[in-house]
Amino acid sequence: MTVGTERLTRRMERGAAFLGSDVAIMAGAMSWVSERNLVSAMSNAGGFGVIACGAMTPELLDTEIAATKALTQRPFGVNLITMHPALFDLIAVCARHEVGHVVLAGGLPPKGSLEAIKASGAKVICFAPTLAMAKKLIRSGVDALVIEGMEAGGHIGPVSTSVLAQEMLPEIADLVPVFVAGGIGRGEAIAGYLDMGAAGVQLGTRFVCATESIAHANFKKAFIRASARDAVASVQIDPRLPVIPVRALKNAGGELFTAKQREVAQSLDEGGVAMAEAQLQIEHYWAGALRRAVVDGDIEHGSVMAGQSVGMVTKVEPIAEIIATLMTEAASALEKRAG
Ligand SMILES: Cc1cc2nc3c(=O)[nH]c(=O)nc-3n(C[C@H](O)[C@H](O)[C@H](O)COP(=O)(O)O)c2cc1C
Repeated sequence: MTVGTERLTRRMERGAAFLGSDVAIMAGAMSWVSERNLVSAMSNAGGFGVIACGAMTPELLDTEIAATKALTQRPFGVNLITMHPALFDLIAVCARHEVGHVVLAGGLPPKGSLEAIKASGAKVICFAPTLAMAKKLIRSGVDALVIEGMEAGGHIGPVSTSVLAQEMLPEIADLVPVFVAGGIGRGEAIAGYLDMGAAGVQLGTRFVCATESIAHANFKKAFIRASARDAVASVQIDPRLPVIPVRALKNAGGELFTAKQREVAQSLDEGGVAMAEAQLQIEHYWAGALRRAVVDGDIEHGSVMAGQSVGMVTKVEPIAEIIATLMTEAASALEKRAG
């Protein structure tokens, strides 16, 4: 073992022990992408895979967990969206399967949800958007936190990973394991966040083009072609019509969305549509769009969610190789630090 590898193992010890994995790298849940194949491959490679429940029904989640268990003996997690109408049924499905880690995403955990998950013996991981919220979540009993910057793919907050890490790690890293996410494409960055006190990291974009990922070939090709500046956040053009910021590759769908916002705003001005209906039209615009891109391969009109690290995705390769590359880069960065 080199000095760098030893240092990396030591810095990842706490995160890996918490996850029950060999390395403290999580593959963040990605709706339609993070299903049985990618999740089991990630966990089998020594990392930690997370099933994206998304809008699945409890029955579908039940099937997906069972299928994942058939493909790996290693621990994996399940990501549940807090506003899912059947959240408590989904928690019960995870409990029945004795899933060890439940990740709650998409907003603050509703009343009773943390308790319900912990009662099953599972650990709860939440996203902390601000330091105040992180402290509140820790007081409520979460077992670990993810802090995710706006470089990430998918739904994003307004602050960059580097700023969140500086603001939050010194205050909370000693209290619970903290995993840093957003914009990580290489191991040197992993080494940096570990040095700052992170217990581990979570990556999404970097794993989309894994051989084991079932994402459509068009989706993977779009990732391999794209550079950082192609992964843009959705823009809101009218203060009356809220748009949830999502980072995705620029395409025709994105341009049409801007046109749609203009059209709806004009219709509002002219009294052609009521406010509630107008907001609903905007909210529903992207419904089914991620599936369209990931599953059907329509990368022009679907939503090709991708983070800014997409420029560092250059080929389709087995997930074990991606992990090995990240670990080698991280170890060599830590090795250099000695000199
Ligand atoms: C295609 C795609 C879909 C995603 N879907 C979800 C999701 O359903 N739930 C969730 O919590 N995060 C989702 N994410 C975020 C990832 O879990 C992860 O936190 C993020 O990708 C990390 O940042 P990175 O893309 O810069 O590596 C998604 C990301 C991508 C790229």
